[in-house]
Amino acid sequence: MAPRTVSKAMGDTIADKPVRTEPDIYWERAGEVSYARAMFASGAVERHVNGRMWGVAIEIAEALGIPAAGRVLDFGCGDGAFANAVLARRYRAVDGLDKAEAAIARARADAAGPHVSFAAADLVGLNYAALPAYDGAFLMGILHHIKAAAPDVVKAIGTVTGRVVVLEPNGDHLVRKLLEWTPTYRRAGEDSFRTEELKHLFAAAGFSCRVWRRINLFPNFTPAVVYRMLAPLEPRVEASRFWNALCTVNMFGFARPDAATARPHGAGAA
Ligand SMILES: C[S@@+](CC[C@H](N)C(=O)[O-])C[C@H]1O[C@@H](n2cnc3c(N)ncnc32)[C@H](O)[C@@H]1O
Repeated sequence: MAPRTVSKAMGDTIADKPVRTEPDIYWERAGEVSYARAMFASGAVERHVNGRMWGVAIEIAEALGIPAAGRVLDFGCGDGAFANAVLARRYRAVDGLDKAEAAIARARADAAGPHVSFAAADLVGLNYAALPAYDGAFLMGILHHIKAAAPDVVKAIGTVTGRVVVLEPNGDHLVRKLLEWTPTYRRAGEDSFRTEELKHLFAAAGFSCRVWRRINLFPNFTPAVVYRMLAPLEPRVEASRFWNALCTVNMFGFARPDAATARPHGAGAA
């Protein structure tokens, strides 16, 4: 059998040209200006929040045993900031997929090297059988944007990799749930999962939860001055089993039994 490649999966084999929804338009615009500018009120908050989330994602990848010499998939890669700044430095090959064409154009323009590739694709209609096998996949804030299709998509991901790092908003957070009713959150298609809902979704696809962490105290719109005042509290809030309910983000490491043995990680190890 000919080797499967990401470009082949992105060729004639994917679904028809997608219909543009309001969230699609939001992400196209974000791609034009960069996600960092579109999504955050302050550069200091963006650097802090993304720095933390990206660092924890790599810690979880290590705990799952995703090898540094491996090939990884950034599933819903947006404008490629994470893939280009972090994954490209660490892994032998990085493929990024996202529906927003403007974001993919930005990701390609910023591509960190020939071992990094990006393609525009609707992950709901994707032909997963045409993708190569991956040593791991990163799903950073994508699943709640394809909520109805998420159970099938996660099962399909299980056919290309046995290790998945997931970042999702903390859907158990009451304030977060209220914010999702505001026009900005609705335009972006924000509809978070409850923590247990997400764990069940992966369990149904044959994955077990090896790592679960709650991190980040700061919603994207936090003004810099508020962030500076509260930043010293963040490590204590994250470390508390009670107060970490205030964290805005859930991060998970899921693995299938056929993937390499994982080491439990941190206080939030599941
Ligand atoms: C919150 S952003 C996360 C982007 C990136 N992972 C990050 O961390 O910045 C959600 C992303 O999901 C993408 N998306 C939403 N629905 C999609 C679909 N059906 N297929 C592919 N990508 C989709 C959007 O284009 C957007 O880039």
